[in-house]
Amino acid sequence: MVNIIMLGPPGAGKGTQAKMLVERLGIPQISTGDMLRAAVKDGTELGKKAKEYMDAGKLVPDEVVIGIVKERLAQADCERGFILDGFPRTIPQAEALDRVLEELGKRIDYVINVAVPNEELITRLTGRRTCRKCGAMYHVVFNPPREEGRCDKCGGELYQRDDDREETIRQRLEVYQAQTAPLIDYYKKKGVLYDIDGTGSIEDIFQNILKVLGA
Ligand code: AP5
Ligand code: MG
Ligand code: ZN
Repeated sequence: MVNIIMLGPPGAGKGTQAKMLVERLGIPQISTGDMLRAAVKDGTELGKKAKEYMDAGKLVPDEVVIGIVKERLAQADCERGFILDGFPRTIPQAEALDRVLEELGKRIDYVINVAVPNEELITRLTGRRTCRKCGAMYHVVFNPPREEGRCDKCGGELYQRDDDREETIRQRLEVYQAQTAPLIDYYKKKGVLYDIDGTGSIEDIFQNILKVLGA
């Protein structure tokens, strides 16, 4: 059993690497961003509330995301481990996670801190495309699909996220510095933080993460 947190700024490749780990390790990815976007798409109350924050590049209130993750972690497929992607993002979220895990008799084994310089993050996010059907991620330059606008894996239509506009990206990067970066120290103190250079090829980064995990 292995419980992992993917930490890093917007565009660091948390989602890209988490999806590769899902295939390799056979444990689920828990992406609060994906869950919130699904709620927005379905037009639920949660989605309506979350959309305003997301479109502004701000964080959705802690109690909302903590509730979602708590429910998700209690599900049976997390028994053999899980990969948290985009959660926790604030100190109160990290503290709430500690309490939830304690109740469940679990703990975090690895926090993978993926570092990428800001200029590269902006280039990555403005060129990102995502599959509507299966969620696979592409980049128009760095990781293009074989056919423009179509997913290689399932043929689904590729779209650009609403919050991947340059002003919103800058806001998200500021929010990361102010509210999420303090988690690096939080987990360093717990002795579970592992730094990974997030620049270079997607495959090389994946190999470095596997090395950390001893997998
Ligand atoms: P979320 O969906 O979590 O977005 P994020 O943290 O901003 O991160 P991204 O998904 O943008 O980046 P990523 O690191 O996954 O990078 P990716 O692999 O896609 O959150 C969105 C919003 O939801 C938040 O702003 C907030 O409002 C809300 N929210 C979510 N969780 C919350 C929480 N816990 N609390 C409160 N609010 C919350 O890669 C990016 C691009 O780069 C892709 O195009 C990819 O192909 C490319 N790429 C990847 N690796 C490489 C590489 N090595 N070289 C070149 N290109 C690469
Ligand atoms: Mg992501
Ligand atoms: Zn697809």
